[in-house]
Amino acid sequence: MSSVRISFQVNNEEYLLPVSLEVSLADFLRDQLGLDESSTGCDTRQCGACVVLVEGQPVRSCSLPAIEIAGKAVLTAEGLSRDEIGSRLLQRYRSGEETAGRCTPCGRCAPGLLLAALSCIQRAASPPPTETVRAFLRGHPCRCFLQDEIAAAAAATAQEVFA
Ligand code: FES
Ligand code: FES
Repeated sequence: MSSVRISFQVNNEEYLLPVSLEVSLADFLRDQLGLDESSTGCDTRQCGACVVLVEGQPVRSCSLPAIEIAGKAVLTAEGLSRDEIGSRLLQRYRSGEETAGRCTPCGRCAPGLLLAALSCIQRAASPPPTETVRAFLRGHPCRCFLQDEIAAAAAATAQEVFA
């Protein structure tokens, strides 16, 4: 497989590495950088489990060639706690305030949903309400219904951030 050496940033760390032209970003993050918190479910752009942020935009890493991150900044689930807003969102989600009283979700979709919700907050000019975040997460068909909880956690986090 042919490869090209590229520079990029992942979770605020700089890298200069050879990247195969054929490998997906999801496989590269997992196999070359050991970042495996986000799972891949469908590999066909359907589930959203593999979402990471590239330059702040949610992308489906299963379908993006890793070479596309040349010169760009990537945030993965492992980097959420290092981001000021992301760490607040994570903390609120983990506190379970919005999940009280229901069955424990399997969690497979949580990393992608949290990253997408973070992107929604970061793009907003004012705190987005739950419905706005929920609409932003509609491409994540989570069967544990985490979209609702993460949208509520993101809206509450945004209220704090914009205060
Ligand atoms: S694994 Fe990428 S969208 Fe499902
Ligand atoms: S967290 Fe279980 S299917 Fe989404």
